[in-house]
Amino acid sequence: MSPAMRIDVVSIFPDYLAGLQLSLIGKAVEQGLIELGIHDLREFTFDRHRTVDDSPYGGGAGMVMKAEPWALALEHILGADAEGTEGTGGAGSPPRPVLIVPSPAGPVFDQRTAEELAGADHLVFACGRYEGIDQRVLDWAQDHFDLRPMSIGDYVLNGGEVASMVMIEAISRLIPGVIGNPESLTEESHEDGLLEYPIYTKPANWRGHEVPEVLLSGNHQAIARWRRDRRLERTAEVRPDLLARLGDLDSRDRAVVDRFESRGETMTE
Ligand code: ADE
Repeated sequence: MSPAMRIDVVSIFPDYLAGLQLSLIGKAVEQGLIELGIHDLREFTFDRHRTVDDSPYGGGAGMVMKAEPWALALEHILGADAEGTEGTGGAGSPPRPVLIVPSPAGPVFDQRTAEELAGADHLVFACGRYEGIDQRVLDWAQDHFDLRPMSIGDYVLNGGEVASMVMIEAISRLIPGVIGNPESLTEESHEDGLLEYPIYTKPANWRGHEVPEVLLSGNHQAIARWRRDRRLERTAEVRPDLLARLGDLDSRDRAVVDRFESRGETMTE
């Protein structure tokens, strides 16, 4: 079995991340496919009020997360890593952990990013709150981590916890063994740049609505073609940006998209 992926999450709301113990990720942790560490940032403060924030230099609204608790938390995680690799004597040093800092100011996380990060040994998520984290600790972290600010979309959340959970779920389901049937990963939305085809289950007639006949035909080639056509149409309809990114389609696929698009034009004329 390949070694487990280590995932550490630092937050002032560790309870927020309890959901990671459930469902497929919880099972992957139990099975030893993922090692999960959740750390309370306030454990790395030493004043009576366990202060993690202060007012911004230069003025402005809101509060800024202080550098020192973050540095101590991240050093604690690095220290545990160093203990784990002591005495291995392997050639070269192990790859740096990836430090993901959820932020609306980062590049947007997508399925390609999830695939890339699913190959990492160690991911650390730094969940900021308030206006963000003192820049100096992020500058410092570049010497110890592969630093990756990352947004989950063009909107603003109250903190990085939900964004981290989104990314952890998207990444961890790509780790071999986490999803029982890996075939179910191959025809999903975004896997190859197209959205998923519509799916149906029994009964074949539900409240007068029939399942498309081809799906009952047993003709696997015709079913595969039907499904691809529906994926092309659906993508052309709701995410034309994805289709444009795919580049050149073969002539069969192109004809399906052209037919779909010209149908749209005649409807709006
Ligand atoms: N924190 C606040 N908004 C965010 C977003 N859109 N993505 C990631 N982290 C965030």
